[in-house]
Amino acid sequence: MKIGVLGTGMVGTAIATKLVSAGHEVRMGSRSRDNPKAKEWVEKAGRGASQGAFADAAAFGEIAFNCTAGAASLEVLQAAGAANLRGKILVDVANPLDFSRGMPPSLFAGNTDSLGERIQAAFPDAKVVKTLNTVNASVMIDPGRVRGDSDVFVCGNDAGAKAEVTRILTKDFGWKNVIDLGDITAARGTESYLLLWLRLWGALNTADLNIHVVH
Ligand SMILES: NC(=O)c1ccc[n+]([C@@H]2O[C@H](COP(=O)([O-])OP(=O)(O)OC[C@H]3O[C@@H](n4cnc5c(N)ncnc54)[C@H](OP(=O)(O)O)[C@@H]3O)[C@@H](O)[C@H]2O)c1
Repeated sequence: MKIGVLGTGMVGTAIATKLVSAGHEVRMGSRSRDNPKAKEWVEKAGRGASQGAFADAAAFGEIAFNCTAGAASLEVLQAAGAANLRGKILVDVANPLDFSRGMPPSLFAGNTDSLGERIQAAFPDAKVVKTLNTVNASVMIDPGRVRGDSDVFVCGNDAGAKAEVTRILTKDFGWKNVIDLGDITAARGTESYLLLWLRLWGALNTADLNIHVVH
């Protein structure tokens, strides 16, 4: 499958690398066509890897991953182009983190709103699936880094899109427990969980952590 990965940070690099190793063709996108991190990734990832501007990656992909800073995500997706995202699954991994008052960050959306919903509202013809934002970049693509069973969540308005993303999560990324939380408004919960995640990171002194829901 052809996949566009928007983002050259830790998350974009981890996800793009894993997708290439699973046999997909992946184009990484950034603000510029000659982003040094994207070029370095293409050299390292090898066959199946390419890079370009956000719009190049979105046009290339049958599916796109949004792995950009939450505060910039809407701007990035505008640059990627609504036409390039039309009818496609848009996997949203971003968190609405506000670093303007330093560390730890707060959230610029929550409670009655979420970044996932803002993205779905701004791009109504894309099928937004929010997932993976509750774990760090390393755990996203290697859930076995965390001992025992742990869970990842999906939410979105399109059942077929969630099924396809769940297939990628299980087959390509190795997740065993994928919990479908319902429509995109559930992103309010998974994004707000970051407030707890940040505290767990501090308390446990490792970012290799996750939760398992028992019922
Ligand atoms: N790091 C983690 O472990 C983790 C875990 C869960 C969720 N997340 C979420 O995943 C997303 C990516 O995180 P990250 O740590 O990999 O990287 P990041 O530093 O949050 O984002 C990097 C990407 O955002 C783009 N970007 C930043 N500022 C921009 C601006 N003003 N205008 C346009 N584009 C801008 C960059 O574009 P260029 O390529 O052009 O520089 C780059 O592609 C974030 O939303 C984060 O909250 C991260």
